[in-house]
Amino acid sequence: MRLGIVQSSPQFGKKQENRKQIEELVGDQQADLWIMPELALTGYEFKNHAEAHDVAEAIPHDDSTKWLADFCGERNCSAVLGLAERDGRHVYNTAILCGPHRYVGRYRKIHLFDKEKERFDVGNLPFPVFNIGLARVGLMICFDWRYPEAARALTLRGAQVIAHPSNLVMPFCQQAMITRALENRVFCATANRVGSERHAGRTVHFTGESQIVSPDGAILLTAAKDKPQCIVTEMDPQTADDKHATPFNDLLKDRHPEFYARQ
Ligand code: ACM
Repeated sequence: MRLGIVQSSPQFGKKQENRKQIEELVGDQQADLWIMPELALTGYEFKNHAEAHDVAEAIPHDDSTKWLADFCGERNCSAVLGLAERDGRHVYNTAILCGPHRYVGRYRKIHLFDKEKERFDVGNLPFPVFNIGLARVGLMICFDWRYPEAARALTLRGAQVIAHPSNLVMPFCQQAMITRALENRVFCATANRVGSERHAGRTVHFTGESQIVSPDGAILLTAAKDKPQCIVTEMDPQTADDKHATPFNDLLKDRHPEFYARQ
């Protein structure tokens, strides 16, 4: 299977331009699954909940879901995209998965980072895993990396590949995702963005270095720190079905949840 990441540089509020940038970055490169950044079409630094709500979209009826499904149809692939989702009064920082001309499913970010707490509602759906035929794909978003429970929940639900749309601003995630891959023996694909946004007198820089990590903790590919680009690798999702760390240690079977509950 070919797994690809689109590391784009969204401009705040410019959905059309941001979609076009993604299409141009992908060009005629081929992947079976493309992963794009968090909030890849709107940008990140909303003033508040009301502003995020104004640009957010109903899923799957509004334009961006249709755009992604068409993107997949034209390329005969699946794709994961981060976007702002409106549902009644609520607004979620969401990732959707589409296949050729169809919407497959969504995840609403549970662990909101910093001022996201003023802009979004906390996700209200369990961590999802979708079978796209070639692989079972789990979804989490950016700051979920700081909670090992997220990647573990996806692993326990059968994910072979964790798709991780991101807008990273702190330097630790790329290293931490090596551990998430190792402790779960899954592929971890972090699609980060580059560029910066200015809001309320502060500039936020996004750190690039999108990466794909194997179940052995090997970094298969890393993107640049500071420029938009795509990275694509061949990988075998079934590698993630073998949970042995040594012939005697199956990482999932050897868990002892009876000792993990809080006293
Ligand atoms: C983040 O969760 N966007 C840092």
